[in-house]
Amino acid sequence: MIVTARAHPNIALIKYWGNRDDALRLPANASISINLAGLETVTSVSFEPGLPADRIEIDGLPPARAAADRVVRHLDRVRALSGQGACARVVSRSNFPAGTGIASSASAFAALTVAASAASGLSLTEGDLSRLARVGSGSAARSIPDGFVELATGPHDKDACAYSLAGPGHWDVADCIALVSREAKSVGSSDGHRLATTSPLQSARVEDAPRRMELCRKAIRERDFPLLAEIVELDCLLMHAVMMTSRPPLVYWQPATVDILREIRAWRADGLPVAFTIDAGPNVHCLCEGGAAEEIASRLRQLPGVAQVLVCHPGEGASLLP
Ligand code: PMV
Repeated sequence: MIVTARAHPNIALIKYWGNRDDALRLPANASISINLAGLETVTSVSFEPGLPADRIEIDGLPPARAAADRVVRHLDRVRALSGQGACARVVSRSNFPAGTGIASSASAFAALTVAASAASGLSLTEGDLSRLARVGSGSAARSIPDGFVELATGPHDKDACAYSLAGPGHWDVADCIALVSREAKSVGSSDGHRLATTSPLQSARVEDAPRRMELCRKAIRERDFPLLAEIVELDCLLMHAVMMTSRPPLVYWQPATVDILREIRAWRADGLPVAFTIDAGPNVHCLCEGGAAEEIASRLRQLPGVAQVLVCHPGEGASLLP
């Protein structure tokens, strides 16, 4: 039986960076994100008793060794939980570039988790799916529930699962993603998380996270864009300060990244409801109130160094497709 699932990537408003346990991907701090409708990964899985090994195809090609091994390890987790003994055929396709700071691993591991667990005969709760997706990729835990999502954390596997704070219709906000590069980043987030504690700033960032989480929850609950803008930019800059002060340092920004940050701040000072955030890559996510999305996207397209602008709205969680 072939089972197909779809998941959106998500953009973190409060970032997760660093693990308290790398093997289980238990995040050092809790995080909050929005699922991005319009961008998606669709993955089909079938367990086939005749197959000698797992067969994986990502965007039409067999993946590089490290990516394939990561998928096989995730299938092994599903096999261990379900008792399914057969190898699997996995076909996955995303409609956006992977590895450039658009959280492709989030949608990839969320879709794989939902498709593979159903194909193996498991019937998991949303919380269990989120925990399982998290072990594949931390941020994937947040692509399982709907809309605005919080990923809690704690010392044990059971503590770290995501749940919806509000559905996608709760607040009309948009993410205008300014792509300044389509190239895959040189240091992926799995390796980046391991470097987090080498920065003297990481402990201060993690200690202050509960305060930022509370302000972000309040901004979402009360649809308070100025508060959201302030807390999201602070949180993003704290994470990049940790990255830049790690050993070795990680600098994901390019000159165009910095130019966009300055523009965003100037536009906000002029009254446009817009704020920036950046994941582990050079591209800039420009969060805005929905009504301003067209204006922001058109201004971004005119900036030198911006190759493309993608506009996304809050999306649903991962689901099985008929
Ligand atoms: O899920 P990972 O291992 O790709 O880590 C995600 C890290 C950031 O995107 C930089 C932050 C986040 O919370 O999504």
